[in-house]
Amino acid sequence: MSSENQPGGMTRRDFVTAAGGAAVGALVAGQTPLASAQTAKRRYAIVGTGVRGIGMWGRPIVRDYSDLVEFVGLCDINPLRVEVAKKQIGVSCPTFTNFDEMLTKAKPDLVMVTTVDAFHSQYLVRTMERGIDVMTEKPMVIDEVQCRNVLAAEKKTGRKLIVTHNYRYAPKHQKIKELLMSGEIGTITSVDFNWFLDTTHGADYFRRWHRLRSKSGSLWVHKASHHFDLINWWLAADPVQVSALGSLSNYGKAGKVRHTDCRSCPHKKDCSYYWDITRSANLVALYNDCESADGYKRDGCVFKEDIDIFDTMNAVVKYSTGVNMSYSVNTFMPVEGYHLAFNGTKGRLEIRDFERQAWDPGAETAMYLIKNFGQRTKIELPRETEGHGGGDQRLRDLIFKKIDAPAHMRLPDSRAGAMSCLTGIAARKSCDSGAPVKIADLL
Ligand SMILES: NC(=O)c1ccc[n+]([C@@H]2O[C@H](COP(=O)([O-])OP(=O)(O)OC[C@H]3O[C@@H](n4cnc5c(N)ncnc54)[C@H](O)[C@@H]3O)[C@@H](O)[C@H]2O)c1
Repeated sequence: MSSENQPGGMTRRDFVTAAGGAAVGALVAGQTPLASAQTAKRRYAIVGTGVRGIGMWGRPIVRDYSDLVEFVGLCDINPLRVEVAKKQIGVSCPTFTNFDEMLTKAKPDLVMVTTVDAFHSQYLVRTMERGIDVMTEKPMVIDEVQCRNVLAAEKKTGRKLIVTHNYRYAPKHQKIKELLMSGEIGTITSVDFNWFLDTTHGADYFRRWHRLRSKSGSLWVHKASHHFDLINWWLAADPVQVSALGSLSNYGKAGKVRHTDCRSCPHKKDCSYYWDITRSANLVALYNDCESADGYKRDGCVFKEDIDIFDTMNAVVKYSTGVNMSYSVNTFMPVEGYHLAFNGTKGRLEIRDFERQAWDPGAETAMYLIKNFGQRTKIELPRETEGHGGGDQRLRDLIFKKIDAPAHMRLPDSRAGAMSCLTGIAARKSCDSGAPVKIADLL
């Protein structure tokens, strides 16, 4: 266990900095940027030019860091989409459908991987093998073989790999980390964590490529790896063993009627999950207008029979520090957000996050520190309207500007990427086998 996760293991200076209300969200002192200090612009390329590549790693980079970053290439297997992306990002760099050709011709010194999850690992390995630093969206990998390949390539090449776990950078999540590090609730003994995806966001995973394990590794990997990374980081612990159950109770074969996509569906009027993609000109340009190249329908039916992921998931995870977590994700809820509690020897930290619901909860997040034999204290948090609770912008600043950060806010590396994915991979395997899965057996 590193000193940072010991109750009271934070230095007094760190804690004083973190505890001041105004300091929540500050990223200060000690962060080493991805590349060493440089005067020339970073030569930057993206592979996978869908909404995330454009909206998180494209347009904002042009807007905020043009003095630091030069786009040298965009690559996607869909030749139409990569051209739309070039326009939407607003750059003039060359586009490619062949990744190796992009590396050779564009000569990037930093590549961002934002493809469909199943292909992250091959681009990570190929980039590092060409001597180039690389970043990837979560999940780093979707199975244990990919995981081993990526870790081996990083070791062999000595290149730098960052996994862009943006949720850590939401000020509220930093606050949780700092409260746990302060030792206020003593030694943490267990965690209760329930994530709710609503009938808008949750359903969307069943319309898209995420519906197939072969593409997303299932939501145990695609979605829950976000949450598993948060827990690993909050606890400064590694997952050891996972037991899990999953079912497909609402989408896929559980539906009563189905079609291929919403646009041409004869059941439009009766289906609560009907979604009209044509209301977004951007999405039409990016997906409908590019269908001729790959046949991919962005508005696929949530009741398609090929859906092979779970929509209802429960797990118990044992951690290296002796903490046990009970965790769940439900994907067709009337609310979006989460319930989270850390139980410790001196008290409990309770959080209810309200992302979307039919009533006004008054605040985005309610957080309470409750001491054994003591008082309940409300933790005040700033309201964040930016992407992923304010995490997206802060993560980009950390990567592209020369911003310093304390050790606990440093950029997530391949180990963090591996541990978050392996928890989900173990959960998926446990659902299939009915037996607990040890993380060590996957490595
Ligand atoms: N951190 C977050 O909060 C967050 C949020 C959204 C998405 N993401 C991640 O970003 C990634 C992209 O998601 P998205 O929503 O933009 O999906 P998307 O479907 O909009 O885009 C994926 C793109 O990858 C391309 N692609 C597919 N296979 C490819 C291959 N073999 N080689 C090159 N390109 C390929 C597709 O043509 C498409 O343009 C995913 O890994 C997802 O997990 C992360």
